[in-house]
Amino acid sequence: MLHAFEAEGLVKRFGRTTALAGIDLAARPGTVLGVLGPNGAGKTTAVRVLATLLRPDEGSARVGGLDVVRDAAKVRRLIGLTGQYASVDEDLTGTENLVLIGQLLDLRRAEAGARAARLLEEFGLAEAAGRPAKTYSGGMRRRLDLAASLVGRPDVIYLDEPTTGLDPAKRDDVWSIVRSLVAGGVTVLLTTQYLEEADALADEISVVDHGRVIAHGTPAELKRVVGGQTIMVRPVDPARLADAAAIVGAVAGRVPESPARGVLTVPVDGDTAFTEVVRRLDREGIGVTELSLRLPSLDEVFFTLTGRHTTEESAA
Ligand SMILES: Nc1ncnc2c1ncn2[C@@H]1O[C@H](COP(=O)(O)OP(=O)(O)OP(=O)(O)O)[C@@H](O)[C@H]1O
Ligand SMILES: [Mg+2]
Repeated sequence: MLHAFEAEGLVKRFGRTTALAGIDLAARPGTVLGVLGPNGAGKTTAVRVLATLLRPDEGSARVGGLDVVRDAAKVRRLIGLTGQYASVDEDLTGTENLVLIGQLLDLRRAEAGARAARLLEEFGLAEAAGRPAKTYSGGMRRRLDLAASLVGRPDVIYLDEPTTGLDPAKRDDVWSIVRSLVAGGVTVLLTTQYLEEADALADEISVVDHGRVIAHGTPAELKRVVGGQTIMVRPVDPARLADAAAIVGAVAGRVPESPARGVLTVPVDGDTAFTEVVRRLDREGIGVTELSLRLPSLDEVFFTLTGRHTTEESAA
């Protein structure tokens, strides 16, 4: 089997909304596919089709070689699902939640209990195991969600925006959990709105927009297309903004954008661009209050790929 899961030409309409417009997604076993896209791109809809929760209008999808429509029951045994779904019952404790899921998956009571205890331990929730989920913090709740999706020892896991709203430390916790899952041979579909997250975790990334893939590749390939990194400059003196723009524009070979007052950003391909910008700003006597080199945001990726921002509506 070449792919742990694959979707071909999926179309899904909700009334007049086309949520999926012929999307293709696939991941080899034991890898992470990052699905990167803005609000409303169709990420959750694609996950729900792959999770057998939604029937596509057109196209097909397979998990472990099994068709998600014809073999839905068998597919459900292969997958774990977490994210923008309420799989956890707020009033039940951590332990009760995981035991309940185990029993729904036909584990015997003792077996379900042992599995729950093991997962709560692994996810740093042993101390909170006896407390209702509604008393958990956002990060604990996210870890309980992840643990819940692993009760059935799935081959394939769908993580739908698993770190949205988490602070950086809790995000790192989730990232290391994902890495250890993959090390254990699990295949992951990870949806995210952060290129940084896809870059950190994914073997391949599909960028989705309006229900279709608009770019696909390894993180390195994608960064080559969208500009590896973004330089951000904020001159001390706003009157020098045009001079600074001329410098970063010349170094980057593209016209910089001004996403906020007094700030310039531009994608660059290599690491040397940054030092070149520093050198030229210094030579021209342009002081800066902020100067940084970072991966482009999703919005900047979109602007490079589509010529519009994630918040703009397209004519289509
Ligand atoms: N059950 C539904 N009924 C009607 N429209 C829906 C339904 N589910 C999704 N949509 C619409 O389909 C489109 C894709 O939604 P989807 O939830 O898949 O996007 P998403 O990429 O997951 O977005 P987000 O990042 O906000 O979670 C949106 O326009 C959404 O409003
Ligand atoms: Mg979603």
